[in-house]
Amino acid sequence: MTLPNGPQTLPLLQMLHWIARPFSFMDACARKYGDIFTVPLSKNFAPVVFVSNPQALQQILSSDSKEFDAPGDTSLNQLFQPFLGEHSVITLSGDRHRRQRQLLMPPFHGERMRTYGELISNITEQIISQWKIGQPFAVRDSMQAISLRVILRAVFGLTEGPRYQQLEELLNSLLNVTSSPLSVSMLYFPILRQDLGPLSPWGRFIRQKQQIDQLLYAEIQERRDQLDSSRTDILALLMCARDQADELMTDVELRDELMTLLLAGHETTATAITWALYWIHKLPKVRDKLLQELDCLGDHPEASAILRLPYLNAVCSETLRIYPIGMLTFPRVVKSPCELIGYQLDPGTVLIGSIYLTHQREDVYPEPKQFKPERFLERQFSPYEYLPFGAGSRRCIGMAFAQFEMKIVLAKILSRFEMALADNRPVRPLRRGLVSAPSSVRLVLNGQRSESSQKPQLSSSNV
Ligand code: HEM
Repeated sequence: MTLPNGPQTLPLLQMLHWIARPFSFMDACARKYGDIFTVPLSKNFAPVVFVSNPQALQQILSSDSKEFDAPGDTSLNQLFQPFLGEHSVITLSGDRHRRQRQLLMPPFHGERMRTYGELISNITEQIISQWKIGQPFAVRDSMQAISLRVILRAVFGLTEGPRYQQLEELLNSLLNVTSSPLSVSMLYFPILRQDLGPLSPWGRFIRQKQQIDQLLYAEIQERRDQLDSSRTDILALLMCARDQADELMTDVELRDELMTLLLAGHETTATAITWALYWIHKLPKVRDKLLQELDCLGDHPEASAILRLPYLNAVCSETLRIYPIGMLTFPRVVKSPCELIGYQLDPGTVLIGSIYLTHQREDVYPEPKQFKPERFLERQFSPYEYLPFGAGSRRCIGMAFAQFEMKIVLAKILSRFEMALADNRPVRPLRRGLVSAPSSVRLVLNGQRSESSQKPQLSSSNV
């Protein structure tokens, strides 16, 4: 076997670099070793081959390939286990993974998403109506509040009430506990996971997770006791979903999948909208062009009209290209000896698609560090050149949901307010937990846009 070359420094140093500065780590490796390289991240992990060559990614990720597997017991998937449990689609492998995907995917189908248009629009209105003219605000906090509410309502069907409020607070706090590089180290280094009481980082995490579990199980139990066939939330659909053996999901499976959808779907989408608002206000030409497009919508646009706007779509695509929130695909593992762009790989070799490095290829995206939505109007990219949601057997289940939410929220905010960046501080991509996010984006509200140009008041008949 000939593994591709890669950095030779101590694995521990590489791991610390990867945890503290993942983008600079990947850039440095790509500069030196090209679009496929091997990283021995630490003694706990098998060496990982990072791939950003589209031809190789196609071979690895195309779902009909017999040479690769996408197991849930790799060390990367298992990083999520403390949050998600053993029955999450992310931590399962083989037939059980396929079963869970089949059960989870129907509620996330593109067409179904439209049911949630009015909900997303109303929640956005609730949050942005609290913004005050002239007062700078942290964009991420507001976007996180929107996306958490959207998930709690759309996925759980929860409305105001003590359980809803407790879950909102606990989930926010759990994510904040695990977002710093120090906390991420607890996930990468099991030895740091010591429960030294409620004030210790791991102790706090365990206790918050227990409280969240109690609330989730109470909700599932209540729903089983009071079956209501008129509900359209995702939990209601999952509770009636049957697998090929005609089996329903158990309570533990439901709990683990709810947690998966909450954690996978809420921060990622909030971060994507935060980045989009940053680029739109950083680049006046982008903002002007977007407003022109939005102003052409009628007074009560249908959600589907917003979804189809070509420039808004290009801005969202470019946002997810330049600094992808999921920097990597989940690992794929070689099943039988195979050749990958000239390398002979043995069974067991772990491969990861570097979504970030693929999106930074000069040959596919000239001037890759420049934010240029036009590239998405000028040409189409293959699913292995542009893959912010991964590809193949583990492609993101919430892709349509996230794209839909991004567009509705952006259309609503931009049509309603005149805003500007609150300062000129450079904004950099950083690690936030197991994904990435911008350092700090602050906007200031300069005023309302004129009445005539405030469009998105979604037409309820079409959402
Ligand atoms: C902008 C927002 C989002 C981004 C950038 C994103 C990105 C990704 C990526 C890169 C993967 C790994 C794919 C692979 O390995 O091939 C993934 C998997 C996944 N995503 Fe998302 N995601 C987003 C939003 C969501 C939402 C809204 C949900 C659900 C509510 C969701 C649920 C999932 C799940 C369940 C998986 C695991 C699929 C599996 O293991 O089979 N994501 N996502």
